[in-house]
Amino acid sequence: MKIISAPDYQSMSRKAANIISAQVILFPNSVLGLATGSTPLGVYKQLIEWYKKDDIDFSKVHSVNLDEYCGLSGEHEQSYRYYMDTNFFSQVNLPIENTNVPNGLAKDIDAECKRYDNVITSLGGIDLQLLGIGHTGHIGFNEPDDDFDKTTHCVKLKQKTIDANARFFENASEVPQRALTMGIKAIMQAKKILLVANGSGKAEILCRSLFGPITPEVPASILQLHNDLTVVADEEALAVIRGKYPSAIG
Ligand code: GLP
Repeated sequence: MKIISAPDYQSMSRKAANIISAQVILFPNSVLGLATGSTPLGVYKQLIEWYKKDDIDFSKVHSVNLDEYCGLSGEHEQSYRYYMDTNFFSQVNLPIENTNVPNGLAKDIDAECKRYDNVITSLGGIDLQLLGIGHTGHIGFNEPDDDFDKTTHCVKLKQKTIDANARFFENASEVPQRALTMGIKAIMQAKKILLVANGSGKAEILCRSLFGPITPEVPASILQLHNDLTVVADEEALAVIRGKYPSAIG
């Protein structure tokens, strides 16, 4: 595991974008696993800037997103499809038909989960998976549980997650209670994982995830077992790690 520290959000975003950019320059037909949430917004912004300067070409890239709220259509402003279309896909030359987000409106949820796993398999798996981290230690929407859920599945969101995401909705009661999320297996099978985190609110959970026991109670803790994990975080998010394991930060 490599932990890269950044002085602030902008620098975190630029460093993470550099890693994605290197992946796409070296392997133009990469499969990128993409994430939503507020943390990666700066990464997408930076990638768009470099695309506009002709420094990156996404024309051969395929993407698979981690998750989607159940019950929201891709036109709903808080759906993750809408987030991706608005904040990234519409501003770069990644062909929209190469992009994949679970269908939150699927009637047959089991069939949709199987379809999504097949999409990932048919693309040959993920080359680089971008991840944020939730306050519960969730990755994608894999919430704390008794077991690690391996395949794409439907989750009931924890109240803490609903409360955290309520800031994007009119009020907490509008936040969908359930979501579809890629499972731990597809995430862990990604060739490279890039986890981004910023702000003091993530400091404790980041430390527990990277240095605590590996347990489905802290889903991100499974990342300790990945052999190519890079964490890019700002100093606030690294505060607890810096206090307990200073030599771990590169
Ligand atoms: C959401 C997403 C996660 C994301 C997390 C953190 O619930 N499903 O993929 O990592 O929230 O979000 P933020 O970056 O806004 O803190």
